Amino acid sequence: MAQEALVIGASGMLTEVSRWLAHQDYQVTVLGRDSGKLGHVRDGSTHPESIHLLSQDYHQTDSLRQAIADLVEKRGPMDVVVAWIHSTAPHALPVIVEELSRPEKRWQLLHVCGSAAWKNPMTEPRSEFCMYRRVILGFTCAGEHARWLTNDEIAAGVIDALQAKERQIIVGQVEPWEKRPAYSSI
Ligand SMILES: NC(=O)c1ccc[n+]([C@@H]2O[C@H](COP(=O)([O-])OP(=O)(O)OC[C@H]3O[C@@H](n4cnc5c(N)ncnc54)[C@H](OP(=O)(O)O)[C@@H]3O)[C@@H](O)[C@H]2O)c1
Repeated sequence: MAQEALVIGASGMLTEVSRWLAHQDYQVTVLGRDSGKLGHVRDGSTHPESIHLLSQDYHQTDSLRQAIADLVEKRGPMDVVVAWIHSTAPHALPVIVEELSRPEKRWQLLHVCGSAAWKNPMTEPRSEFCMYRRVILGFTCAGEHARWLTNDEIAAGVIDALQAKERQIIVGQVEPWEKRPAYSSI
């Protein structure tokens, strides 16, 4: 039976990650608000039939809970989840973890975090079924010039992380921290 993957925030920098998972024979559910953007993820895939759209705002906690419960009902337990969730939705990840752990089957969560996460200790979700790892998106420096990562660099780093075993992976660099580009919300 095919493995199931869920990608949250799938239609931006995780577009190529979603398509890569489909190419690896996962059945991939892609979650975002805009179904047109999600359709673009599917239509550019070599395996469009393996990509399933889930249009949902992760700020809407109650309907998010229901959408994840419905997803498990429809597709069965998830095996792998890649999550990029803005900090404006602090309840989204705990709700997703709770609902995806209900079938009592182990699953992997790769939590994609902005550079500021490097300053915070890893806080694992409270679930014995969720195998938590995190990817921290850093920046890149060439000489004196520092910049944030491109979508291609981020997608390649997340795909590498999916194939690795480390609990925490840094894409790009986070040190020296003072070289970090100016815009601080990512
Ligand atoms: N360290 C770094 O270098 C770094 C870190 C982060 C970001 N960036 C860069 O900054 C760019 C913009 O970042 P971004 O955060 O906008 O990421 P993004 O990955 O480009 O887009 C956000 C994704 O999350 C979805 N999303 C947003 N709000 C949502 C909500 N309330 N509910 C459900 N899904 C939601 C969006 O789809 P919908 O809009 O359809 O909902 C989209 O799929 C990125 O493309 C990346 O290049 C760089």
